[in-house]
Amino acid sequence: MKSTTRSIRALKGTRPIVCLTAYDAVTARIADQGGADLILVGDSLGNTVLGMEDTVGVTLEMMVHHTAAVVRAKPSALVIADLPFALAHEPFPKLLKSCRTLMQNGGAHGVKIEGGATLAVSILKLVDAGIPVMGHIGLMPQRVHSTGYKRRGLNPADQQKLLIDAQSVAAAGAFSIVIECVDEKFSQQLTESLEIPTIGIGSGKGCDGQILVIHDLLGLTSNPPPFVKPEAQLHRDAVAAVQRWAKKVRKPGLKK
Ligand code: KIV
Repeated sequence: MKSTTRSIRALKGTRPIVCLTAYDAVTARIADQGGADLILVGDSLGNTVLGMEDTVGVTLEMMVHHTAAVVRAKPSALVIADLPFALAHEPFPKLLKSCRTLMQNGGAHGVKIEGGATLAVSILKLVDAGIPVMGHIGLMPQRVHSTGYKRRGLNPADQQKLLIDAQSVAAAGAFSIVIECVDEKFSQQLTESLEIPTIGIGSGKGCDGQILVIHDLLGLTSNPPPFVKPEAQLHRDAVAAVQRWAKKVRKPGLKK
């Protein structure tokens, strides 16, 4: 059955929600056939697939290109596309246009936006325009050059800030919210305080669902974050397959 923002939302309190990133038709098919409820075309595209240092260099055009490839795989999972670096802070008409482009040209069913309380009014207006929004609070990779990659929610002041961020994004109408690298106990408290599903990454088991970068899960990245336990070693297996074939090609007497 095709996932929708409503079906994802309705899963809260019934069973854990399974989310994975994908960046092309191949990874979308793997995620979908593996049973993901939601596929995120994350801007982790930059560092995972495009060889960038971080997500800051990812553009709207890149996101549209990769989202369209994911959508062409016709997954049953809901497809959400990340709004790239800083676009959420543009004046509303430009923000609306960027989100529209991800949905109309990329085929996404909604957008994910990194940010908290300061974006609540924009999220409210996007939702009013018919754009489903997934929030993203905690560690926000797009802010790497201002905050670095730091765990969040480790002290009462930061917990208070995260609570305000989460409640503002939820009140603005987001259908779910990613909670990245937030203290495990506090993530559970956030989850219990919200009516929308929380999707954790590096935030422990207390969230309503989990998301991982598919390349980390499959063992395609050399340095996955410490909270990921890869379920396969595809990089190692692929290199071995190429080596076996290269050996056969170079075997004396094979040519002719
Ligand atoms: O860009 C991304 O892939 C993400 C998730 C892993 C949450 O934001």
